[in-house]
Amino acid sequence: MVLRKHTSEQAKTGTSQNQYSDKLLENLPRLSDLLKREPIQVEKLVAEAIRTKGVRKILSELDKVLKGLGDVALDLLSSLAIGRHVLIMGPVGVGKTTLAETIAEILAIADPPYIEVACHSHMTATELTGDIDIAVALQAGLDHPLAFIPGPLVLAHGRILILDEINRLNPYSQAALLQALQEHYVYIRGFRIRSDFLVIATSNPAEYSGVYELSEALADRMKVIEINYPDREVLRGILEWKSNALLEHLGVKVPDFLVELTTNFVTLLVQDSNIEVGPSIRSAIFALANAMSRAWLEGREPSINDLKVELVENMVSTIRGNFSSEQEKKEYLLKKFDEALIIAKRSYKR
Ligand SMILES: Nc1ncnc2c1ncn2[C@@H]1O[C@H](COP(=O)(O)OP(=O)(O)OP(=O)(O)O)[C@@H](O)[C@H]1O
Ligand SMILES: [Mg+2]
Repeated sequence: MVLRKHTSEQAKTGTSQNQYSDKLLENLPRLSDLLKREPIQVEKLVAEAIRTKGVRKILSELDKVLKGLGDVALDLLSSLAIGRHVLIMGPVGVGKTTLAETIAEILAIADPPYIEVACHSHMTATELTGDIDIAVALQAGLDHPLAFIPGPLVLAHGRILILDEINRLNPYSQAALLQALQEHYVYIRGFRIRSDFLVIATSNPAEYSGVYELSEALADRMKVIEINYPDREVLRGILEWKSNALLEHLGVKVPDFLVELTTNFVTLLVQDSNIEVGPSIRSAIFALANAMSRAWLEGREPSINDLKVELVENMVSTIRGNFSSEQEKKEYLLKKFDEALIIAKRSYKR
């Protein structure tokens, strides 16, 4: 290992690279400490947090970030409080990840309250468990803080483990996770490290591409909670609120008519039973904000066409259905936009 020389600035202030690295190393767990870990009843911590905060306060804090998900949150909390892992399922961009993170933050059962893994199909089991760095272990000993790099399954002890897009985990990583859930121990080259955590996983439904089937044993250990599209009025509120939040620093505000039009467009797509993978609320928010910022750049008022271009461009990559080509999908979206426009004009005439 090459240690950098002190810079003159560091010498003046009395800080050194060594001090920084010493501090860093101090905070890293040593294998011997990890092997001494005591069990933690995470569900007790959750229940205590719920008792201390109060359900109403938790829901009102959540409402500052996500609208219309109070019921889903109650489902989530009631499962966590009895130590049941949760799988949040739902279409793209309906707030699954945000819900998992926000609830974990509000509960704040530890510091940091959660460890998050963005799951992907090439994730190896050791990426989840962590591994011993043989070269460091040979040189500096097994108990050197850098000899064992703990993975998220180890770091999550006493916390919530958010497994974002768990459906992307390949069967090998799923098996490592299952073992940790079943036995409360993570195995690393013969060492057994205690780890108690509660999982909040998120997933898209099985018909989405790039997903693996969740093993039966893993699915059986999780309570499945579904998020669906919000009601029309809630959706309208979300679109208005979040797009204006993105635009605040530009000093522009989305005209009411464009919010209405976007709401109609999204609603028409949600209601169409021929669409297998529906629109994303996130995409709709960004389409509105992008249309506005484009007009802002050009120093003019936003037009309906600005919104049309943005919405169709954004949704063409999200929605999926029985289309023979991208062009056909685009034409479908343009048609739906025109329908949404007619409805919006009608309701504004009244
Ligand atoms: N109910 C809601 N209330 C407020 N904002 C929402 C709601 N649903 C979605 N959003 C907005 O959409 C964004 C997307 O949310 P998030 O990334 O959590 O969705 P997701 O379901 O995890 O999406 P993906 O399927 O792509 O992973 C959020 O940042 C939020 O601004
Ligand atoms: Mg997500």
